[in-house]
Amino acid sequence: MDVEVLGRVLSTLPSDDDHPYRTGPWRPQTTEWKADDLEVEGEIPADLDGIYLRNTENPVHPALDGRYHPFDGDGMVHVVGFRDGKAFYRNRFVQTEGLLAEREAGQALWAGIAERPAKSIRQDGWGARGRMKDASSTDVVVHAGVALTSFYQCGDLYRLDPLTLETLGKTTWNGDFPSTGVSAHTKVDEHTGELLFFDYGTDAPFMHYGRVDADNKLVDYVEVPLPGPRLPHDMAFTENYAILNDCPLFWEPELMKKGLYASRFHPELPLRLGVLPRRGGGKVQWFEADPTYVLHWVNAYEDGDEIVLDGFFQGDPEPTDTGDGTFYQRMFRFLALDRMQTRLHRWRLNLVTGQCKEERLSESITEFGVMNNRYGGRPYRYTYAASGLDGWFLFNGLVRHDVVTGAEERFSLPEGVYGSEPAMAPRVGATGEEDGYVITLTTDMNQDRSECLIFEASRLADGPVARVRLPERVSSGTHATWAPGSAIPGWSAADSAASAVGL
Ligand SMILES: [Fe+2]
Repeated sequence: MDVEVLGRVLSTLPSDDDHPYRTGPWRPQTTEWKADDLEVEGEIPADLDGIYLRNTENPVHPALDGRYHPFDGDGMVHVVGFRDGKAFYRNRFVQTEGLLAEREAGQALWAGIAERPAKSIRQDGWGARGRMKDASSTDVVVHAGVALTSFYQCGDLYRLDPLTLETLGKTTWNGDFPSTGVSAHTKVDEHTGELLFFDYGTDAPFMHYGRVDADNKLVDYVEVPLPGPRLPHDMAFTENYAILNDCPLFWEPELMKKGLYASRFHPELPLRLGVLPRRGGGKVQWFEADPTYVLHWVNAYEDGDEIVLDGFFQGDPEPTDTGDGTFYQRMFRFLALDRMQTRLHRWRLNLVTGQCKEERLSESITEFGVMNNRYGGRPYRYTYAASGLDGWFLFNGLVRHDVVTGAEERFSLPEGVYGSEPAMAPRVGATGEEDGYVITLTTDMNQDRSECLIFEASRLADGPVARVRLPERVSSGTHATWAPGSAIPGWSAADSAASAVGL
């Protein structure tokens, strides 16, 4: 392994930190690495060609009011690239305006999501509620050859070189960008090269949907009126439709008037699913379903008069404080999959009758389900999801669901080893949906290391075919993606992974 330190960030976090989402498997990294020809146990498949990108939260300063939430941490992107049976790695902080301002100040300047906006030192800021730091730490996709990081409370889309992870600046479309920012979970349709997105905020109409074409031009930006401020997190799409949501879990309106942002689940209200034409906008058709909160959708597709929509139904979107567990376990019970009871679920939306039928697809508690993105918006069969450690926001295994037969295959990580959201990487020349690999990064507390695990997608339970050693243990985090080499400028002209990044 050829390793070099590219940079270090000065952290002002206390050395005796006891916050579980800033220590242990969530210990933030402060070093930016460049490592080539990584050590491998097993063999990297020669037909694995492209990059796995993962975004993570890495706080640098203590929270202003002492109530740090893991989603407040500054975005750091990791890339593991594969070519010709070899692998390289980089990790870089996203150089957000907020990170740079706090670096200059040597302290936090904005209150986190579990703190009152009034506590922010800076009057300005980002986020649907305002006066937050846009940490750009939630999600990452590759569109038009550039990696785009995003923030779940809405913010800018930061453009990163997908290989060096150098921050190139903030996205604008035709020189413009939505004033509310854009939510995490932008969607890339690999068939058309389009980027679909939504934003949300506290001012009417409370939500917009947008479409950017393959040349990075904003071609649609339409209103999606809601009854009030909502907290949507994800969207879905089919070949012809965009699917947005109005979940009955939102900021308490009376408290908002006092500057407090506390969310509450309303079991008396339905889940509303909004379908609108993907191109050109048009009237939103709303469907009502059983009340729940859906954090993540897996996929959607058209089936005759119906839209089939798969995602994760929360059996308990607002887990009660039972008094069990540590203070932090109680505070962050909303992040534990077992507490939220997240199960794979299917909604069928009939565009002619306006009716919605729904069914549970699995009894297993999983979330963060991904699929082969070439099947995005099209009929598909397999999703690869994460299982969670009881009581914590940590992934302890992978589950492959066959949404046609209901069959499941599982791989469990050893105790003390945690995984990241997986990504499915079709092999070069793939001929079928599961013809490829599933990739995840581990945070191994037993050996104080991280590895990139590569599985045959069709044989998840057999365990990884290769383990690629990273230079340092990485923090746990949120979302990841796969981009084939063919989607990355300069990749095909390079004769090796190292030369692809200009070495
Ligand atoms: Fe998410």
